[in-house]
Amino acid sequence: MENMQNLSELFEATLQDVYFAEKMLVKALPKMASKVSSEDLRQGLEDHLEQTRGHVSRLEEVFKIIGSKAKGRECKAMQGLVGETEEVMSETSGAALDAGAIGCAQAVEHYEIARYGTLKAWAKQLGHDEAVDILEATLEEEKAANETLTELAMADGNAKADDIGGATAHGRRGAKKAHAN
Ligand SMILES: [Fe+2]
Repeated sequence: MENMQNLSELFEATLQDVYFAEKMLVKALPKMASKVSSEDLRQGLEDHLEQTRGHVSRLEEVFKIIGSKAKGRECKAMQGLVGETEEVMSETSGAALDAGAIGCAQAVEHYEIARYGTLKAWAKQLGHDEAVDILEATLEEEKAANETLTELAMADGNAKADDIGGATAHGRRGAKKAHAN
């Protein structure tokens, strides 16, 4: 059991946690992409895989900036999130699988947004200005990925609402319109 007593050590340990998490995601995203049926969702997951590879490289730059060797530290949160994703995707099919995949991917993005937000704040406190910019760049991409997933979820939901005939569909369209204003 370690006893970290300063922010610098905690910053490095958290970098290692996120480094492990991003590398785990590089392995998990292609598996998710291969199982979904929506072409847009598959493309979105593949695009985020490319970004995720970039996030791994950016973390390596940050390790360099603080004069440390890039290494991972078991991230129990990401292990849990990926485990849950596998569970959801093995228990669903069709539209439910796609919706489940989007939900799980958003949980992953929210975790990463939280982590990068914290890392950025700590980098600033520690005076690692170059690292702040690098972490900010990834943070913005994670936020954008989350928004893309929200749009995909809504597009999917709208397509389904369109399939429903009669009063329900009109009701939903009306509600959507009101919401948009
Ligand atoms: Fe990432």
